[in-house]
Amino acid sequence: MLENLPRIDLLDGPTPFQRLRRLEAETGHGALWAKRDDVAALGLGGNKLRSLEYWVAEAGQRGCDMLVVAGAPESNQCRLTAAAAARLGLECLILHGGNPPESAVGNLMLNRLLGAEIRFLGPVDEDERGRRARTAVEELTAAGRRPYLVGDPVVGALGYARAAGELARQARSAGVALRHVVLPGSMGPTEAGFLYGCALLDLDLTVHLVSVEYQADELQARIAGIVAGLERRAGLPAGDWQRRMTIHMDQLGPGYGRPTPESVAAVATCARLEGFFLEHTYTAKTFAGLLALLDSGAIPAGEPACFLHTGGVPALFGQVADQPGLVAAAR
Ligand SMILES: Cc1ncc(COP(=O)(O)O)c(C=O)c1O
Repeated sequence: MLENLPRIDLLDGPTPFQRLRRLEAETGHGALWAKRDDVAALGLGGNKLRSLEYWVAEAGQRGCDMLVVAGAPESNQCRLTAAAAARLGLECLILHGGNPPESAVGNLMLNRLLGAEIRFLGPVDEDERGRRARTAVEELTAAGRRPYLVGDPVVGALGYARAAGELARQARSAGVALRHVVLPGSMGPTEAGFLYGCALLDLDLTVHLVSVEYQADELQARIAGIVAGLERRAGLPAGDWQRRMTIHMDQLGPGYGRPTPESVAAVATCARLEGFFLEHTYTAKTFAGLLALLDSGAIPAGEPACFLHTGGVPALFGQVADQPGLVAAAR
């Protein structure tokens, strides 16, 4: 349904849809799956690759030859923008809030390897960082360059509208009548896109959003704004898209990027039972949310459920470098 919208392939095919047999044995749930968006051939993978497929297509349509992106030094979006730029032969400028750290680990180290130009803006908040990025784009344009500012949430959300169809096809061909999908609730594009795609396909699913950043009303408002933008952009109404959405606030703990005992344990549980990794900001709390939903019976044992792994694993190295206690606490 969204095939007519411009997209440049960065994923090289579907990401794995994988059964979690040891987690099933551990929890007594009969059908647990993971959609592994942390696994991709480009830039060590992650949800922002799906958004970038649409952002770089728009950049191409506008004749841009340079990607500009702003984010925290540990930002996965910045890393994947730098990787997409490398693959497509575009220049990349990254604007980070804060000051340069003494040693670059995690995503920051990868951004350097990817050849991005990196500028540190000093201690600025998110709004100011956004303003500085827009100013940088204006200055580059005035100097005769053709920069594209990465980050429009509606364009980025198209990636997960498409992903809903990919997941539905994979579940169908595995003979699974998927009833629950669990993913992080954060800035909104991934969640809004996924809910929009589910609505267009009329999928019989509950979409569990485990909030890792905002209170429920703010998260809901962000998602609603993006879905409205998607309806306008794609020209396809989503009807009663909200009926699939459930927001869970029980994993947020002390706030964004701040681990909880449950999220620290989830990183170890996932690694030891299934052999893949979570990071501490998004996926650990989401996985902890899945475990809580299984434990409480909110996801009943007979109803197939899928953990949507949105990636971000390279950030784990920086997180553990900053807080070595995270590994000790997981023992
Ligand atoms: C690994 C990971 N998961 C989830 C998210 C949240 O995605 P969204 O901003 O679309 O809500 C991000 C955002 O950067 C991320 O890096």
